[in-house]
Amino acid sequence: MDNTEKLEQLIELREKAKLGGGQKRIDSQHNKGKFTARERIEMLLDEGSFEELDMFVTHRCTDFGLEKETYLGDGVVTGSGTVDGRLVYVFAQDFTVFGGSLSETFALKICKVMDMAMKMGAPVIGINDSGGARIQEGVQSLAGYAEIFQRNILASGVVPQISAIFGPCAGGAVYSPALTDFTLMIEGLSYMFVTGPKVVKTVTREDVTTEQLGGASVHASKSGVTHFVAKTEQDGLLLIRKLLSFLPQNNLEDTPLQLNNDPISRTNDLLNEIIPDNPNKPYNMKDIILSIVDESEFLEVHSNYAPNIICGFGRFNGQSVGIVANQPNYLAGALDINSSRKAARFVRFCDAFNIPLLTLVDVPGFLPGTAQEYGGIIIHGAKLLYAYGEATVPKVTIILRKAYGGAYDVMSSKHLRGDLNYAWPSAEIAVMGGKGAIEILYGGELKKLTDETERAQFVAEKETEYRDKFSNPYVAAKYGYIDDIIEPRNTRFRVIRAFQSLATKKVINPPKKHSNIPL
Ligand code: HXC
Repeated sequence: MDNTEKLEQLIELREKAKLGGGQKRIDSQHNKGKFTARERIEMLLDEGSFEELDMFVTHRCTDFGLEKETYLGDGVVTGSGTVDGRLVYVFAQDFTVFGGSLSETFALKICKVMDMAMKMGAPVIGINDSGGARIQEGVQSLAGYAEIFQRNILASGVVPQISAIFGPCAGGAVYSPALTDFTLMIEGLSYMFVTGPKVVKTVTREDVTTEQLGGASVHASKSGVTHFVAKTEQDGLLLIRKLLSFLPQNNLEDTPLQLNNDPISRTNDLLNEIIPDNPNKPYNMKDIILSIVDESEFLEVHSNYAPNIICGFGRFNGQSVGIVANQPNYLAGALDINSSRKAARFVRFCDAFNIPLLTLVDVPGFLPGTAQEYGGIIIHGAKLLYAYGEATVPKVTIILRKAYGGAYDVMSSKHLRGDLNYAWPSAEIAVMGGKGAIEILYGGELKKLTDETERAQFVAEKETEYRDKFSNPYVAAKYGYIDDIIEPRNTRFRVIRAFQSLATKKVINPPKKHSNIPL
């Protein structure tokens, strides 16, 4: 072969590799309304930035006639590229080759990019679209999965890991996405389950469709397995780009500052009126978040799961901040099992990646009831408490209205090393709400009052007395548990100033092998 022929051979092999499992299977993928692995990578990365690795890898299996069927790349496209000019590593499972099923060499390719991401300190994005373990390879394939899991675990808290589910993801294959920081699914296209509908039918006799068992809406609202849902693959990939803009490259870096054109001293008079006079009346916490962050840009995480707590990313004067806020519009903003788990994971993510935390508090307490107690609210609530207490990033807290009972402590209070704790004048910081307190404090007197009107009048009087004494921010401020009581309209400015003053914060937890969070 002369040099020209060698070059021609290279071009020919590259073209062959780009066809994956062949044009027919590419057409079939398109007919299902899906993009191919390479098309997805093109959409995700900055134009022309993709550097592919291991294009010429093939499987080594000789069972079931597989030695006669090989494809260059072996069903997964891997490499690096940039998102907004920042390095990322990617892998995209190629459904056109053996249904994107995972072989030994397929796993080795993924492990290689994960190892490189760790060396370089760059995020890893995995696009999943696979029939699971390559059946012909048996244990080699299972070993491959575990090698990936191990890398997911070691990379956890070192580089951000994002999983996009753009097709099937079943069996043990679900555990790699579950180990990563964020998962995204596409409506009507993705599904994830440990055992499929047929096995479910055999074992439990339940009749369920793939969508009912593990579709995007199920995991976004019921299980919380997915953090984000997009309508189309393009939307999903754009959302991943946006998410990355809020994150640092790794745990040793900060998120780069974004150019901010939103005035830092922008006030909002509406905030002075937003808290209803009636303490039992809800309002939408999202209105407050949107009015204080830069350009009203807020990327909510888990928006349909446990909506009684809001978690997401915003910016203050260009700086990325993780925001956690009780939502009085749902369950009065009470903390329950799911909201505690959701927020705890978010707080730990932010802390691991040096993203400061803003906590907006309006919480009437923990949700009562046997369902919560039997479900282990004690352990799950402790997760959020633990996450806040463990976090060493700058922590700014604002109590807007209720901060009752244990929930006052949990929601990034001064006592859990909150750095700057503010309150609005409408804040009510107490052991419990007025009504409940009066029932307990004056139980004896109340029993004696048989006349309903008299009883109601007594309760109202005592409640006013209680509210005047405890349901305000001044008692907490007197003890220094609240650093300042701020005018709501100035909240944006005060938050920005607070984070500016905390930029050089250094706190190190005691050395240990690892903590023992109540799991
Ligand atoms: C080898 C596979 C495969 C697999 C699909 N294919 N899954 N090859 N191993 N696991 C091949 C098919 O033979 C077919 O080849 C091509 O991929 C496309 O598959 P279709 O069935 O035609 O596609 P579709 O109708 O869209 O159905 C997709 C599917 C189905 C739902 C994913 O293929 C399926 O149920 N596959 C098996 C899933 C499974 O049970 N996997 C093992 C799970 S256990 P041709 O040549 O026709 O294109 C597991 C354990 C992991 O994964 C443990 C980790 C710890």
